[in-house]
Amino acid sequence: MPAIIEPSQWTAPVDYQSRTVVVLGGGVLGRRIATCWCSAGYSVIIRDTNQSQCDDALQYIKDNVFSFATRATTGRSPPKASATLDLEVAIQNAWIVFECVPEILDLKIDVFAELERLAPKDCILASNSSSYKSSAMLAKIVHQDTKTRILNTHYMMPPTNLVVEIMTDGHTFPELMQWLAERHREAGSSPYVAVKESTGFLFNRIWAAIKRECLMVMAEGVSTPEQTDKAWMEILGCSFGPCMSMDSVGLDTVALIEKHYIEERGLDSALTVDFLQTNYLDHGKLGMKSDKGGLYAPRPSKPQSSPIAKAPEKKLIVLDTGLGQSLAGKAPAEIISRGRLLEVSLDGKKQRVLSEGLPLPDGVEAHGGKLYYTNMGMPSLNNGSVCSLDLDGTDTKTIVPPGKIFTPKQLSIDHAANKLYIADREGCKIWRCDTDGNSLEVLIDTARDSPKNDNDNKSITPGDIMGQCIGVTIAPSLNKFFWTQKGPAKGNRGRIFSANIDFTGNSTAVTRNDISLIADKLPECIDLEYVAKTNTLYWTDRGEVPFGNCLYKAALTDQGTLAEKPQILAQNFNEAIGLKVDVDANCVYVSDLGGAVWRVEDNGSEKKERVLDEQTSCFTGLTIV
Ligand SMILES: *[C@@H]1O[C@H](CO)[C@@H](O)[C@H](O)[C@H]1NC(C)=O
Ligand SMILES: *[C@@H]1O[C@H](CO)[C@@H](O)[C@H](O)[C@H]1NC(C)=O
Ligand SMILES: *[C@@H]1O[C@H](CO)[C@@H](O)[C@H](O)[C@H]1NC(C)=O
Ligand SMILES: *[C@@H]1O[C@H](CO)[C@@H](O)[C@H](O)[C@H]1NC(C)=O
Ligand SMILES: *[C@@H]1O[C@H](CO)[C@@H](O)[C@H](O)[C@H]1NC(C)=O
Ligand SMILES: *[C@@H]1O[C@H](CO)[C@@H](O)[C@H](O)[C@H]1NC(C)=O
Repeated sequence: MPAIIEPSQWTAPVDYQSRTVVVLGGGVLGRRIATCWCSAGYSVIIRDTNQSQCDDALQYIKDNVFSFATRATTGRSPPKASATLDLEVAIQNAWIVFECVPEILDLKIDVFAELERLAPKDCILASNSSSYKSSAMLAKIVHQDTKTRILNTHYMMPPTNLVVEIMTDGHTFPELMQWLAERHREAGSSPYVAVKESTGFLFNRIWAAIKRECLMVMAEGVSTPEQTDKAWMEILGCSFGPCMSMDSVGLDTVALIEKHYIEERGLDSALTVDFLQTNYLDHGKLGMKSDKGGLYAPRPSKPQSSPIAKAPEKKLIVLDTGLGQSLAGKAPAEIISRGRLLEVSLDGKKQRVLSEGLPLPDGVEAHGGKLYYTNMGMPSLNNGSVCSLDLDGTDTKTIVPPGKIFTPKQLSIDHAANKLYIADREGCKIWRCDTDGNSLEVLIDTARDSPKNDNDNKSITPGDIMGQCIGVTIAPSLNKFFWTQKGPAKGNRGRIFSANIDFTGNSTAVTRNDISLIADKLPECIDLEYVAKTNTLYWTDRGEVPFGNCLYKAALTDQGTLAEKPQILAQNFNEAIGLKVDVDANCVYVSDLGGAVWRVEDNGSEKKERVLDEQTSCFTGLTIV
């Protein structure tokens, strides 16, 4: 055995900015890694042995590179991507190669041997493996110094999860890992460095301990999955618990991962893998993917939709802000007073104007034979208002006059309690009042943590954009209401919150402590609607494609937290705003700022049909009467 001589100094790959980033394997993760680097302005080459995989990967990059690019700070462009079947051609000018070949150890060992032979001598060689440490892939490496530039770069799932764990193979230059972390950060990822080798890297290892202990809590009969998750979520303030997560990943996969730790550490399997095997896996209970459920009981299957015999003809009520018309030569006051309230047949063919001249109308709901709607007014002037009118368009009344609610947006009505709930954008509040506008009160004040000034003048735009409230929906059966705070445009910082309908004790909007964050990092969530029959939340999102400008839904738990990963019902709206679920017809109507109203099938088919298409309109809220 020759003496181990490792070079003692590392220098960054020469001219790395003009050299290529190479990804071996254009699969699900490979193409995402490629898109990350491409979006940061690097020339990227995908190498796959399958031509159609190459084509698909390039198409993926083309479709997504601009939506990935929002976080990169390299400021370099234009991005370039190509694909090839030829390994030697692919890597000849690479400064880094990511191998994303299937998780088969022998395959990875051979790939690294070839890379050592063919790649430039200063090229960084990275594995995406999470099951194998990169030290396990060194068996056929000839030169000791090659090992100093081999490491793991374990990507989670960009762009939804941008974490990358960087881990040594035991020989990797520490400076290389820090430098590479910096390149990742610049490129918009979120790197974490493990300077020692560790099965499960950083996060998965800690998460494994949490899952293990939760299983033991169940196995010993200490508590239930529901209670365990609830405590976890309340204490840590997150919207997912470990038991839900295990159900979502699949209990078979959970067992497989734990077996690795059992073998490596000599752990006892009785209260973890054996418990899962006999109580769940043997009974076909694999989690959310199986209809027998998992740690949680299966969710009740959705009631079948049945067309109601001789139902009265339903109609859509749609708000048009008037901003789709020509602005030429118009004064601001005129521009903002061209809003209309329209009644439209479900097929979009018949239409009549119920009211016009409205100052930027935004939210609408029907209740007790009347329509209620909000006007934003001039958003900088605190002159938003709330009005009601009869279904035939007569008897308009201003129930909340200008000067009270800053920029009223979506409106939701508690039909049993006769209460309106109103989201206030610039005012950063959720309000509630009677149907005649009396008893107006603040339920949520997101600016509550900033110092209050007694001379606070509401005509000065208050609050941070993160605190601006856009959508609101009431869920009496959960004793809660939900609202959105969309965050910056296309910012992936949208949030959905809930709070109880009734204040507890003598708490106020400022002192209440029952606010829960139920979803975070959404592209740009806007209006929402709660459907009691299926305990499901729906929302529109006008963020960036591919995950924005969508209609989403997610089933809730009995505690009103998300029971599942939000599901996309339809995408590619032109700035989706209003929505209304037609539970009986199993569909959702969506309106967008591009002047369209859509009917979306609520059956997972992602099918949507344009009901109305008016280039000169700019639709916001919508409801069904
Ligand atoms: C090539 O990839 C496509 C998917 O892009 C897959 O359907 C096909 O089976 C693959 N062919 C081979 C030979 O693996
Ligand atoms: C690495 O990439 C390959 C190809 O996309 C994939 O099959 C494998 O699951 C990835 N590994 C991890 C840990 O994500
Ligand atoms: C809001 O202010 C604008 C500009 O002064 C004015 O034209 C408009 O009528 C006001 N709207 C209401 C509802 O008072
Ligand atoms: C608040 O703004 C209004 C409208 O611009 C103005 O009339 C009033 O004087 C202001 N009040 C204070 C205390 O600045
Ligand atoms: C409620 O108000 C009473 C009287 O003002 C006060 O003594 C008490 O501390 C308050 N309780 C809470 C929970 O804030
Ligand atoms: C969803 O509904 C539409 C319209 O009723 C129908 O054409 C389509 O086949 C359905 N898809 C599924 C997956 O059920």
